Amino acid sequence: MRYKGVAWLFALLASLILAACGQQTPSAPAGGATTQPAEQQLAVGIVLPTRDEPRWIQDETRFKEALNQAGYQVEILFSQGDSAREKANVESLITKGIKVLVICPHDGTAAAAAADAARAAGVRVISYDRLIRETEAVDYYVTFDSFAVGAQQAQFLVDNATGAGNPLYLYAGAASDNNAFIFFEGAWSVLQPKIADGTFVVKNSSEAVALSSKANLTRDEQARIIGQITTNWDFNTAKTLAESNLTAATAADKGTVFILAPNDGTARAIADVFAADPDVTQFFVTGQDAEKASVQYIIDGRQSMTVFKDVRVLVNDAINASIALLKGESPESRGAYNNGKIDVPAIQSPVVTVDRANVKAVLIDSGYYQASDFTGL
Ligand code: BGC
Repeated sequence: MRYKGVAWLFALLASLILAACGQQTPSAPAGGATTQPAEQQLAVGIVLPTRDEPRWIQDETRFKEALNQAGYQVEILFSQGDSAREKANVESLITKGIKVLVICPHDGTAAAAAADAARAAGVRVISYDRLIRETEAVDYYVTFDSFAVGAQQAQFLVDNATGAGNPLYLYAGAASDNNAFIFFEGAWSVLQPKIADGTFVVKNSSEAVALSSKANLTRDEQARIIGQITTNWDFNTAKTLAESNLTAATAADKGTVFILAPNDGTARAIADVFAADPDVTQFFVTGQDAEKASVQYIIDGRQSMTVFKDVRVLVNDAINASIALLKGESPESRGAYNNGKIDVPAIQSPVVTVDRANVKAVLIDSGYYQASDFTGL
C-alpha cells in the first residue's frame, strides 16, 4: 500500500519543483509512467556507499523501480567505500542544482564534511539508513529499527541454545558505521544476561568477557569490543578473522557453536569458515539484509537466519521526506537519533526475522523475490 503511493508522490514532487522553476507543471494525473509524457528530472540526488555489497544494489534497484513507476529520474551515485569520492559526488550533485540530498554515508563521521557542504549550498540533507555524525547539517534520518536487528539476531541464538557453556563467537560491522554500534547494542541487550548466567561463553573477545556483567555499555566500551570483532563490513576481513578465531580455539571451544554475524555478506564468509572446521559439529549463524545469496544459504541450511529489512519502505520514507523538505515542511518524525551534535528527527521502520521455516512465506510468497531466483524451495 505505502509502496504504491510513490507514483502520486512523485507527480506531486515534480509539480512542486517545476512550479518553483516557473515551468509548466505536468498535466498527467497520478498513475505512473504510462501517462507521463517524458522522464522529468527531480531536484533530489542520492548517494549510496558502495556497489560492492548486494545490500546497496537492492536500494538502487528499489529507488529506480519507484522512480520509473512515476516516470521520473533522479541521479544515484556510489561512493565505492571512499569518503573523498563521496564528497566529490555530493559536490557534483550540488552543482547540478539538487535541493535535497539523500545520502547513506560510507563513514558516518567523515561524511559530516559533505553534509556541511550541502547545507552551505542551501541543500537539505536526509541521512539514509546510516546516520551522519558530528554535524548539525542533517535535517532528517530515515532508518530501520537497527536496535531490533541486533536484538532479533541475538534472540535467535538464545532460542536455539540449551544448557550452559555454549560457545559464542561475536562479529560486528565497521566502527565507522554508526549502525554497527546500534546493532551491537541491540544484540548485547539480549546476549549479556545469557553470558552473565553462563548459557553462553564468549570465545573470541576478551573485552566482551571483561564487560560481561554490564547490561548497558558506553559507546567507548562498545568500541573496545567492536575493535576486537569487527569485520569492517568486508567479506575477506570476516573470513580471515573467523579463521584466526578458530585457529586460536581448542576443540572444546567448538562442537555446537553460536555465531553473531552482523550481516549477510559477512555471515556467508564466516559460515563457510565454520563449516570447514571438523571440530565444529553444528553452528547457528545470524545475518541481516535478506540478500538473495543468503536466502539461498538459508534454504540450503548453510545460514540459520537473516533479518529482512524491506528496502521499499525505506525508499518510500526517503521520498516522503524529500517531498516535505522541498515543500518547506518538516517531514513526519517519530523520534530522534543523537548524532553527537544534535538530535536528528527520524522515522524508523520495523524488521522481520527470517529463517528456513518462514523464508518462503516472507520473501517469495509476498512477491519480494521471485521463486525462480532460488533452487530447492
Ligand atoms: C546497513 C546494513 C548493511 C551494512 C553493510 C549497514 O549500515 O544497515 O544493511 O549490511 O551497513 O553495508
